[in-house]
Amino acid sequence: MSSKTRIGIIGCGNISSIYLKNAPRFEAIEVAAVADLDADRAAAQAKEYNVPRVLSTEALLADPGIDIVLNLTIPGVHGELAIKALEAGKSVYNEKPLALDRESAAKMLALAREKGLRVGCAPDTFLGAGLQTCRKLIDTGAIGQPIAAVGFMMGAGPEAWHPNPFFFYQKGAGPLFDMGPYYLTALTTLFGPVSRVTSSSQIPFKQRPIGSEPHRGELINVEVPTHVAAVLDFVSGPVATLITSFDIAGKNHLPRIEIYGTEGTLQVPDPNTFEGPVLLNKRGEEAWTEVPITFGYNENSRGVGLADMAVAIQCGRPHRASGEVAFHVLDLMHSIHEASEAGKHLPMASTMSRPEPFPENLPFGQIPA
Ligand SMILES: NC(=O)c1ccc[n+]([C@@H]2O[C@H](COP(=O)([O-])OP(=O)(O)OC[C@H]3O[C@@H](n4cnc5c(N)ncnc54)[C@H](O)[C@@H]3O)[C@@H](O)[C@H]2O)c1
Repeated sequence: MSSKTRIGIIGCGNISSIYLKNAPRFEAIEVAAVADLDADRAAAQAKEYNVPRVLSTEALLADPGIDIVLNLTIPGVHGELAIKALEAGKSVYNEKPLALDRESAAKMLALAREKGLRVGCAPDTFLGAGLQTCRKLIDTGAIGQPIAAVGFMMGAGPEAWHPNPFFFYQKGAGPLFDMGPYYLTALTTLFGPVSRVTSSSQIPFKQRPIGSEPHRGELINVEVPTHVAAVLDFVSGPVATLITSFDIAGKNHLPRIEIYGTEGTLQVPDPNTFEGPVLLNKRGEEAWTEVPITFGYNENSRGVGLADMAVAIQCGRPHRASGEVAFHVLDLMHSIHEASEAGKHLPMASTMSRPEPFPENLPFGQIPA
Protein backbone atom coordinates (compact mmCIF):
# COMPACT_ATOMS: atom_id res chain seq x y z
CA MET A 1 0.00 0.00 0.00
CA SER A 2 1.48 3.30 -1.07
CA SER A 3 0.24 5.64 1.63
CA LYS A 4 -1.59 5.26 4.90
CA THR A 5 -5.06 6.63 5.46
CA ARG A 6 -4.87 9.33 8.15
CA ILE A 7 -7.26 8.87 11.03
CA GLY A 8 -8.38 11.63 13.41
CA ILE A 9 -9.91 10.35 16.64
CA ILE A 10 -12.57 12.41 18.44
CA GLY A 11 -13.26 11.06 21.94
CA CYS A 12 -10.33 9.81 24.02
CA GLY A 13 -12.23 7.93 26.75
CA ASN A 14 -12.29 4.31 27.79
CA ILE A 15 -12.63 2.62 24.44
CA SER A 16 -10.02 4.80 22.68
CA SER A 17 -7.16 2.83 24.24
CA ILE A 18 -7.76 -0.38 22.32
CA TYR A 19 -8.15 1.53 19.03
CA LEU A 20 -4.93 3.44 19.70
CA LYS A 21 -3.10 0.26 20.70
CA ASN A 22 -4.22 -1.67 17.60
CA ALA A 23 -3.93 1.14 15.01
CA PRO A 24 -0.16 0.87 14.37
CA ARG A 25 -0.60 -2.84 13.61
CA PHE A 26 -2.80 -2.13 10.56
CA GLU A 27 -0.90 -1.55 7.32
CA ALA A 28 -3.62 0.73 5.93
CA ILE A 29 -3.99 3.39 8.62
CA GLU A 30 -2.18 5.76 10.94
CA VAL A 31 -3.60 7.94 13.72
CA ALA A 32 -2.64 11.48 12.76
CA ALA A 33 -4.41 13.44 15.52
CA VAL A 34 -6.69 13.12 18.53
CA ALA A 35 -9.26 15.46 20.08
CA ASP A 36 -11.56 15.46 23.12
CA LEU A 37 -13.73 17.97 24.95
CA ASP A 38 -11.30 17.27 27.77
CA ALA A 39 -8.00 18.42 26.22
CA ASP A 40 -5.94 16.85 29.02
CA ARG A 41 -7.44 13.46 28.27
CA ALA A 42 -6.59 13.83 24.58
CA ALA A 43 -3.05 14.90 25.44
CA ALA A 44 -2.57 11.96 27.79
CA GLN A 45 -3.71 9.45 25.15
CA ALA A 46 -1.52 11.12 22.50
CA LYS A 47 1.50 10.84 24.78
CA GLU A 48 0.83 7.23 25.70
CA TYR A 49 0.25 6.08 22.11
CA ASN A 50 2.64 8.41 20.23
CA VAL A 51 0.05 10.37 18.29
CA PRO A 52 1.75 13.40 16.71
CA ARG A 53 -0.97 16.01 17.16
CA VAL A 54 -3.62 17.01 19.73
CA LEU A 55 -6.28 19.28 18.28
CA SER A 56 -9.60 20.80 19.24
CA THR A 57 -12.61 18.99 17.73
CA GLU A 58 -13.20 21.93 15.36
CA ALA A 59 -9.55 22.00 14.24
CA LEU A 60 -9.53 18.25 13.66
CA LEU A 61 -12.67 18.43 11.55
CA ALA A 62 -11.17 21.24 9.45
CA ASP A 63 -7.72 19.66 9.09
CA PRO A 64 -6.81 18.67 5.51
CA GLY A 65 -4.39 16.10 6.99
CA ILE A 66 -7.25 13.90 8.23
CA ASP A 67 -8.99 11.45 5.87
CA ILE A 68 -11.35 9.58 8.24
CA VAL A 69 -12.83 10.76 11.54
CA LEU A 70 -13.03 7.98 14.12
CA ASN A 71 -15.90 9.07 16.39
CA LEU A 72 -15.44 7.52 19.84
CA THR A 73 -17.60 10.00 21.72
CA ILE A 74 -20.65 9.10 23.80
CA PRO A 75 -23.78 7.83 21.95
CA GLY A 76 -25.67 11.13 22.46
CA VAL A 77 -23.27 13.04 20.20
CA HIS A 78 -22.52 10.33 17.59
CA GLY A 79 -25.07 11.71 15.12
CA GLU A 80 -24.24 15.40 15.44
CA LEU A 81 -20.46 14.90 15.21
CA ALA A 82 -20.62 12.45 12.32
CA ILE A 83 -22.77 14.89 10.33
CA LYS A 84 -20.22 17.66 11.04
CA ALA A 85 -17.40 15.39 9.83
CA LEU A 86 -19.26 14.58 6.60
CA GLU A 87 -20.06 18.25 6.06
CA ALA A 88 -16.34 18.92 6.43
CA GLY A 89 -15.73 16.44 3.59
CA LYS A 90 -14.45 13.52 5.67
CA SER A 91 -15.59 9.93 5.88
CA VAL A 92 -16.55 8.88 9.38
CA TYR A 93 -16.49 5.68 11.45
CA ASN A 94 -18.64 5.74 14.61
CA GLU A 95 -18.54 3.62 17.72
CA LYS A 96 -21.93 1.98 18.30
CA PRO A 97 -24.74 2.86 18.08
CA LEU A 98 -24.60 4.70 14.74
CA ALA A 99 -26.74 7.46 16.31
CA LEU A 100 -29.50 7.64 18.88
CA ASP A 101 -32.31 8.44 16.46
CA ARG A 102 -33.14 7.19 12.99
CA GLU A 103 -33.38 10.73 11.59
CA SER A 104 -29.78 11.76 12.20
CA ALA A 105 -28.54 8.31 11.11
CA ALA A 106 -30.51 8.63 7.86
CA LYS A 107 -29.17 12.15 7.35
CA MET A 108 -25.65 10.83 7.81
CA LEU A 109 -26.08 8.15 5.15
CA ALA A 110 -27.75 10.56 2.71
CA LEU A 111 -24.99 13.13 3.17
CA ALA A 112 -22.31 10.50 2.60
CA ARG A 113 -24.01 9.31 -0.60
CA GLU A 114 -24.35 12.89 -1.87
CA LYS A 115 -20.69 13.70 -1.17
CA GLY A 116 -19.17 10.36 -2.20
CA LEU A 117 -17.95 9.70 1.37
CA ARG A 118 -18.23 6.65 3.61
CA VAL A 119 -19.98 5.96 6.90
CA GLY A 120 -18.74 3.00 8.93
CA CYS A 121 -19.73 1.80 12.36
CA ALA A 122 -18.79 -0.55 15.16
CA PRO A 123 -19.15 -3.27 16.22
CA ASP A 124 -16.59 -4.98 14.01
CA THR A 125 -16.54 -8.15 16.12
CA PHE A 126 -18.36 -9.93 13.26
CA LEU A 127 -15.04 -9.69 11.35
CA GLY A 128 -13.30 -11.64 14.13
CA ALA A 129 -12.20 -15.25 13.83
CA GLY A 130 -15.10 -16.65 15.88
CA LEU A 131 -17.97 -15.09 13.95
CA GLN A 132 -16.24 -15.52 10.55
CA THR A 133 -15.91 -19.25 11.37
CA CYS A 134 -19.66 -19.35 12.11
CA ARG A 135 -20.38 -17.53 8.87
CA LYS A 136 -18.41 -20.10 6.88
CA LEU A 137 -20.12 -23.01 8.65
CA ILE A 138 -23.56 -21.58 7.89
CA ASP A 139 -22.72 -20.65 4.30
CA THR A 140 -21.29 -24.12 3.59
CA GLY A 141 -24.33 -25.91 5.03
CA ALA A 142 -22.72 -27.40 8.17
CA ILE A 143 -26.05 -27.15 10.06
CA GLY A 144 -28.27 -27.42 6.97
CA GLN A 145 -30.86 -24.71 6.52
CA PRO A 146 -30.96 -22.35 9.55
CA ILE A 147 -34.42 -22.44 11.12
CA ALA A 148 -34.05 -20.54 14.37
CA ALA A 149 -31.60 -18.71 16.62
CA VAL A 150 -31.53 -17.50 20.19
CA GLY A 151 -29.46 -14.71 21.70
CA PHE A 152 -29.18 -13.98 25.41
CA MET A 153 -27.48 -11.03 27.09
CA MET A 154 -28.48 -11.66 30.69
CA GLY A 155 -26.95 -9.55 33.42
CA ALA A 156 -27.59 -7.71 36.66
CA GLY A 157 -26.79 -4.28 35.18
CA PRO A 158 -23.58 -2.30 35.41
CA GLU A 159 -24.36 -0.23 38.54
CA ALA A 160 -22.64 -2.75 40.81
CA TRP A 161 -19.20 -2.02 39.30
CA HIS A 162 -19.31 0.91 36.83
CA PRO A 163 -18.06 4.21 38.34
CA ASN A 164 -20.63 6.32 36.45
CA PRO A 165 -23.61 4.06 35.64
CA PHE A 166 -26.36 6.72 35.28
CA PHE A 167 -26.35 6.84 31.47
CA PHE A 168 -27.05 3.10 31.14
CA TYR A 169 -30.63 3.76 32.27
CA GLN A 170 -31.33 6.88 30.19
CA LYS A 171 -32.92 7.18 26.75
CA GLY A 172 -30.61 5.71 24.09
CA ALA A 173 -29.18 3.10 26.45
CA GLY A 174 -30.66 0.20 28.43
CA PRO A 175 -29.57 -3.36 27.70
CA LEU A 176 -30.89 -3.31 24.13
CA PHE A 177 -29.11 -0.15 22.92
CA ASP A 178 -25.95 -0.87 24.94
CA MET A 179 -25.41 -4.56 24.12
CA GLY A 180 -27.95 -5.22 21.35
CA PRO A 181 -25.66 -3.92 18.56
CA TYR A 182 -23.26 -6.87 19.13
CA TYR A 183 -26.05 -9.46 18.95
CA LEU A 184 -27.99 -7.82 16.12
CA THR A 185 -24.88 -7.19 14.01
CA ALA A 186 -23.81 -10.82 14.48
CA LEU A 187 -27.25 -12.15 13.53
CA THR A 188 -27.79 -9.85 10.54
CA THR A 189 -24.32 -10.45 9.10
CA LEU A 190 -25.00 -14.21 9.41
CA PHE A 191 -28.61 -14.25 8.12
CA GLY A 192 -29.14 -10.93 6.32
CA PRO A 193 -31.94 -8.42 6.98
CA VAL A 194 -34.98 -8.77 9.24
CA SER A 195 -38.50 -8.45 7.79
CA ARG A 196 -40.50 -7.89 11.01
CA VAL A 197 -40.11 -7.77 14.79
CA THR A 198 -42.20 -7.99 17.91
CA SER A 199 -41.33 -7.83 21.58
CA SER A 200 -42.39 -7.46 25.20
CA SER A 201 -40.39 -5.39 27.62
CA GLN A 202 -40.63 -4.15 31.15
CA ILE A 203 -39.11 -1.88 33.80
CA PRO A 204 -39.34 -3.97 37.00
CA PHE A 205 -37.30 -1.47 39.04
CA LYS A 206 -38.07 2.24 38.57
CA GLN A 207 -35.01 3.17 40.66
CA ARG A 208 -31.77 1.25 41.10
CA PRO A 209 -29.21 1.73 43.89
CA ILE A 210 -25.57 2.16 42.88
CA GLY A 211 -23.15 -0.32 44.43
CA SER A 212 -19.89 1.20 43.22
CA GLU A 213 -17.80 4.19 44.25
CA PRO A 214 -17.99 7.19 44.04
CA HIS A 215 -21.82 7.14 43.84
CA ARG A 216 -22.47 4.20 46.19
CA GLY A 217 -26.01 4.31 47.63
CA GLU A 218 -27.34 6.93 45.19
CA LEU A 219 -30.47 5.97 43.23
CA ILE A 220 -30.66 5.92 39.44
CA ASN A 221 -34.02 6.78 37.86
CA VAL A 222 -34.72 4.22 35.14
CA GLU A 223 -36.09 5.71 31.88
CA VAL A 224 -35.83 2.70 29.55
CA PRO A 225 -36.92 -0.96 29.58
CA THR A 226 -34.36 -3.13 31.35
CA HIS A 227 -35.78 -6.49 30.29
CA VAL A 228 -36.47 -6.77 26.55
CA ALA A 229 -37.65 -10.02 24.94
CA ALA A 230 -37.78 -9.72 21.15
CA VAL A 231 -38.65 -12.00 18.25
CA LEU A 232 -37.15 -11.26 14.83
CA ASP A 233 -38.18 -12.83 11.50
CA PHE A 234 -35.33 -12.84 8.98
CA VAL A 235 -36.06 -12.41 5.27
CA SER A 236 -33.95 -15.54 4.61
CA GLY A 237 -36.18 -17.66 6.87
CA PRO A 238 -34.86 -18.06 10.42
CA VAL A 239 -36.77 -16.75 13.43
CA ALA A 240 -34.59 -15.43 16.27
CA THR A 241 -35.46 -14.87 19.92
CA LEU A 242 -33.30 -12.20 21.56
CA ILE A 243 -33.43 -11.30 25.23
CA THR A 244 -31.34 -8.44 26.59
CA SER A 245 -31.70 -7.84 30.31
CA PHE A 246 -30.18 -5.92 33.22
CA ASP A 247 -32.61 -7.68 35.61
CA ILE A 248 -31.02 -11.10 36.12
CA ALA A 249 -29.91 -11.21 39.74
CA GLY A 250 -28.47 -14.72 39.87
CA LYS A 251 -26.56 -16.86 37.44
CA ASN A 252 -28.01 -18.31 34.25
CA HIS A 253 -26.89 -21.12 31.98
CA LEU A 254 -28.07 -19.75 28.63
CA PRO A 255 -25.81 -19.51 25.56
CA ARG A 256 -24.84 -16.11 24.13
CA ILE A 257 -26.05 -17.11 20.65
CA GLU A 258 -27.13 -20.55 19.41
CA ILE A 259 -28.33 -21.34 15.88
CA TYR A 260 -30.53 -24.31 15.02
CA GLY A 261 -30.49 -25.73 11.48
CA THR A 262 -32.17 -28.68 9.74
CA GLU A 263 -29.00 -30.77 10.28
CA GLY A 264 -27.49 -29.51 13.52
CA THR A 265 -26.81 -26.80 16.08
CA LEU A 266 -24.10 -24.14 16.14
CA GLN A 267 -22.96 -22.49 19.35
CA VAL A 268 -21.72 -19.02 18.46
CA PRO A 269 -19.14 -17.25 20.68
CA ASP A 270 -19.88 -14.08 22.66
CA PRO A 271 -20.51 -11.47 19.91
CA ASN A 272 -18.75 -8.87 22.06
CA THR A 273 -15.47 -10.74 21.38
CA PHE A 274 -13.43 -11.62 18.33
CA GLU A 275 -12.42 -15.15 19.34
CA GLY A 276 -14.07 -18.58 19.62
CA PRO A 277 -14.93 -21.10 20.81
CA VAL A 278 -17.27 -22.32 18.08
CA LEU A 279 -19.12 -25.54 18.89
CA LEU A 280 -21.01 -27.75 16.45
CA ASN A 281 -23.38 -30.61 17.11
CA LYS A 282 -24.83 -32.48 14.12
CA ARG A 283 -28.04 -34.50 14.18
CA GLY A 284 -27.55 -37.71 16.18
CA GLU A 285 -24.12 -36.83 17.63
CA GLU A 286 -23.65 -37.35 21.37
CA ALA A 287 -21.18 -34.53 22.01
CA TRP A 288 -20.33 -31.04 20.81
CA THR A 289 -17.30 -30.73 18.50
CA GLU A 290 -15.08 -27.67 18.87
CA VAL A 291 -14.46 -26.34 15.37
CA PRO A 292 -10.84 -25.34 14.57
CA ILE A 293 -10.50 -21.59 14.06
CA THR A 294 -8.85 -20.89 10.70
CA PHE A 295 -9.58 -17.17 10.43
CA GLY A 296 -7.39 -14.25 11.44
CA TYR A 297 -8.31 -11.52 13.92
CA ASN A 298 -8.53 -14.08 16.72
CA GLU A 299 -7.91 -11.52 19.52
CA ASN A 300 -9.31 -8.11 20.53
CA SER A 301 -9.08 -6.52 17.07
CA ARG A 302 -11.18 -3.37 17.53
CA GLY A 303 -10.36 -1.15 14.58
CA VAL A 304 -10.42 -3.91 11.96
CA GLY A 305 -13.67 -2.50 10.57
CA LEU A 306 -12.06 0.95 10.33
CA ALA A 307 -8.97 -0.46 8.57
CA ASP A 308 -11.27 -2.36 6.19
CA MET A 309 -13.06 0.91 5.41
CA ALA A 310 -9.73 2.62 4.67
CA VAL A 311 -8.74 -0.16 2.25
CA ALA A 312 -12.23 -0.14 0.71
CA ILE A 313 -11.94 3.59 -0.01
CA GLN A 314 -8.51 3.07 -1.59
CA CYS A 315 -9.73 0.14 -3.72
CA GLY A 316 -13.21 1.50 -4.51
CA ARG A 317 -15.03 -1.51 -3.07
CA PRO A 318 -17.80 -1.63 -0.41
CA HIS A 319 -16.64 -1.71 3.22
CA ARG A 320 -17.86 -4.36 5.61
CA ALA A 321 -18.69 -2.59 8.91
CA SER A 322 -21.01 -0.31 6.99
CA GLY A 323 -23.44 2.45 7.85
CA GLU A 324 -26.07 0.41 6.01
CA VAL A 325 -25.72 -2.53 8.44
CA ALA A 326 -25.56 -0.16 11.44
CA PHE A 327 -28.66 1.70 10.26
CA HIS A 328 -30.62 -1.57 10.01
CA VAL A 329 -29.43 -2.48 13.53
CA LEU A 330 -30.51 0.93 14.88
CA ASP A 331 -33.87 0.62 13.12
CA LEU A 332 -34.26 -2.87 14.66
CA MET A 333 -33.58 -1.59 18.18
CA HIS A 334 -36.13 1.22 17.85
CA SER A 335 -38.66 -1.12 16.24
CA ILE A 336 -38.24 -3.67 19.06
CA HIS A 337 -39.13 -1.02 21.66
CA GLU A 338 -41.97 0.34 19.51
CA ALA A 339 -43.42 -3.15 18.95
CA SER A 340 -43.68 -3.70 22.70
CA GLU A 341 -45.45 -0.36 23.13
CA ALA A 342 -47.79 -1.06 20.20
CA GLY A 343 -48.41 -4.68 21.20
CA LYS A 344 -47.94 -6.06 17.68
CA HIS A 345 -45.50 -7.11 14.98
CA LEU A 346 -43.87 -4.22 13.13
CA PRO A 347 -42.54 -4.56 9.55
CA MET A 348 -39.00 -3.29 8.97
CA ALA A 349 -38.66 -0.39 6.56
CA SER A 350 -34.86 -0.62 6.30
CA THR A 351 -32.78 -3.40 4.81
CA MET A 352 -29.11 -4.27 4.22
CA SER A 353 -26.86 -6.67 2.30
CA ARG A 354 -24.59 -9.09 4.11
CA PRO A 355 -21.00 -7.83 3.96
CA GLU A 356 -18.48 -10.02 2.10
CA PRO A 357 -16.79 -12.53 4.41
CA PHE A 358 -13.05 -12.32 5.11
CA PRO A 359 -10.71 -14.91 3.57
CA GLU A 360 -9.16 -17.39 6.01
CA ASN A 361 -5.73 -17.02 7.65
CA LEU A 362 -5.38 -13.24 7.40
CA PRO A 363 -2.43 -12.07 9.51
CA PHE A 364 -3.27 -9.24 11.95
CA GLY A 365 -2.95 -5.91 10.16
CA GLN A 366 -3.67 -7.17 6.65
CA ILE A 367 -6.97 -6.44 4.95
CA PRO A 368 -7.88 -7.87 1.55
CA ALA A 369 -8.11 -5.40 -1.38
N1 LIG B 1 -16.10 1.42 27.23
C1 LIG B 1 -16.37 0.31 26.61
O1 LIG B 1 -16.06 -0.80 27.08
C2 LIG B 1 -17.03 0.34 25.26
C3 LIG B 1 -17.08 -0.83 24.56
C4 LIG B 1 -17.61 -0.81 23.30
C5 LIG B 1 -18.12 0.34 22.76
N2 LIG B 1 -18.10 1.49 23.47
C6 LIG B 1 -18.66 2.68 22.83
O2 LIG B 1 -17.64 3.63 22.67
C7 LIG B 1 -18.15 4.96 22.82
C8 LIG B 1 -17.37 5.67 23.88
O3 LIG B 1 -17.44 4.94 25.08
P1 LIG B 1 -16.39 5.15 26.25
O4 LIG B 1 -16.64 4.05 27.22
O5 LIG B 1 -15.02 5.33 25.67
O6 LIG B 1 -16.93 6.52 26.86
P2 LIG B 1 -16.11 7.59 27.74
O7 LIG B 1 -17.15 8.40 28.41
O8 LIG B 1 -15.06 6.92 28.51
O9 LIG B 1 -15.37 8.48 26.60
C9 LIG B 1 -16.04 9.36 25.74
C10 LIG B 1 -15.14 10.55 25.48
O10 LIG B 1 -15.76 11.38 24.50
C11 LIG B 1 -15.54 12.73 24.88
N3 LIG B 1 -16.58 13.56 24.28
C12 LIG B 1 -17.90 13.56 24.57
N4 LIG B 1 -18.55 14.43 23.79
C13 LIG B 1 -17.62 15.01 22.99
C14 LIG B 1 -17.68 16.00 21.98
N5 LIG B 1 -18.83 16.58 21.62
N6 LIG B 1 -16.52 16.35 21.37
C15 LIG B 1 -15.34 15.76 21.72
N7 LIG B 1 -15.25 14.83 22.68
C16 LIG B 1 -16.37 14.45 23.31
C17 LIG B 1 -15.58 12.71 26.40
O11 LIG B 1 -14.93 13.84 26.94
C18 LIG B 1 -14.89 11.40 26.72
O12 LIG B 1 -13.50 11.55 26.90
C19 LIG B 1 -19.63 4.78 23.14
O13 LIG B 1 -20.38 4.93 21.98
C20 LIG B 1 -19.75 3.35 23.64
O14 LIG B 1 -21.01 2.79 23.33
C21 LIG B 1 -17.54 1.51 24.70
